Amino acid sequence: MRIPAWPVHTEREIELLRETLASPQWGGFNEIVAQFEREFAGFQHCAHGISAANGTLTLETALSALGIGPGDEVIVPAISFISTATAVSRVGALPVFVDIEPWTFNMDPERAAAAVTPRTKAILAVHFGGPLADMDRLTRLASERGLILIEDAAHAHGSEWNGRRAGSFGRAGSFSFQNSKVMTAGEGGILTTNDAEFAERAHCFSNQGRRKGEGFFHHYTLASNYRLTALQAAVLLAQLERLPEQIRLRERNERLLRAELAEVPGLRFQQPPKQVNVHSHYLLLGRIDRTRFGKTRDEFHRAITARGIPCTPFYPHPLYGNPLYQAGGCRVDPCPVAEETILDTFWFPHRVLMADEETIREIAVAVRSVARVTVPPAR
Ligand SMILES: Cc1ncc(COP(=O)(O)O)c(C=O)c1O
Repeated sequence: MRIPAWPVHTEREIELLRETLASPQWGGFNEIVAQFEREFAGFQHCAHGISAANGTLTLETALSALGIGPGDEVIVPAISFISTATAVSRVGALPVFVDIEPWTFNMDPERAAAAVTPRTKAILAVHFGGPLADMDRLTRLASERGLILIEDAAHAHGSEWNGRRAGSFGRAGSFSFQNSKVMTAGEGGILTTNDAEFAERAHCFSNQGRRKGEGFFHHYTLASNYRLTALQAAVLLAQLERLPEQIRLRERNERLLRAELAEVPGLRFQQPPKQVNVHSHYLLLGRIDRTRFGKTRDEFHRAITARGIPCTPFYPHPLYGNPLYQAGGCRVDPCPVAEETILDTFWFPHRVLMADEETIREIAVAVRSVARVTVPPAR
C-alpha cells in the first residue's frame, strides 16, 4: 500500500528554517513567533494567538488564565486524549466526565446540560477527529448557565461550523502541533481567542509573568516559561501554507472511500452534522457492528494492519477508565455510548486520506475483503 509518510516537509520549511538559523534569536522572542501567532489566529478567525511548547500546556494556560481552580468543576467529554482531563486536574479543578454522541464522537450537549451544578465553571468541548462539537447547542448552554466555553481544538485546524472556524467560538481555543497532527513542528501548541484581556493574561502566564511592552525583568504574576521556539514557528508557518490544500485532498479522498464502502454491512463512519462545512480530517473514525460486518473490531484491526494500512483500535477505555481517575479526583456521569465505542471503534490516521486515488480504491478493496476473510488469530 502506498500510504504517504507523515510528517512531511518541502523546501519552504527549509527556507524558513535557514532564515531563522541565520538570526541571533532561535527562541520565542524572534519576530517569526509573533508572525506565526498572528497568521494562525487569523486563519482560525481569531484576533489573538498565544503559542506554547505543546497543546497540553495551552489547555492548562487557558484554565489558569480564566481563574479556574480548586472548588470548580469543568465538564469534559469521556472520550478524548488524556490532556483534556488532566489540564483540569492540574489546575486543581474537578473534571466531570459526560457521554459523547454515538456518530459525531463529540460531547452530548444534553448530557453536558444535565451535569451542570452550582460549582460548574466551564465546559471544555473537544472537536474529536476534526469535526466541531455542536457549537450551536454548547454556546447556548454556556451563555444560558453563565459558563465559560473552551474548545480543545487539538484535532481541528481549519475545521468550520457554519463557515466559522474552530477556536473562535469559545473564550479560548487550544490547538496542538504534536507530531501526528495535521500541522506539526514535532511539538507545539497555540491558544486562539477574540478576547484581548484573556489574551494578555494567557501571554503573561506563559511568559514568566511579563506584560507586553514592559520590562524583561518585570514579573507580575506567578507564571512559567511555555514558549514556542522560533525554529518551531518557522516550520509551522510553512505547514500552515499547505494546510488548506491538504484538507481539500483529504476531503476528496474521504468522499471516495466512503462511497466505495457505502454498501459494506455493519461498517459506519463518523457522521458530522451538516453545520460542519469543513473539517481537518485528522482521523477517519469508524464503528463496526460485528454481527453484520462478520468480524469484531479487533479482528478488523489485525487484518487491516496486516494489509499495510495504518489503523488504531481506538482508546482502551474512556478517560475515567485510566488508573489515574479510577483512583478518584473526578465525577463520572453514566457514559454508555463511550463504553460502547471503546469496543467497536477504530481510526485511520489522516495520512491514509493523503494517498493517491488508486491507493484509496485499494484500501476499499482491502476493507471489503476483511469483511469476508477469516482472520488469523493474534499472536
Ligand atoms: C484532544 C487532544 N487534546 C490535547 C492534546 C495535547 O496536545 P500535545 O500532545 O501537543 O500536548 C492532544 C494530543 O496530542 C489531543 O488529542
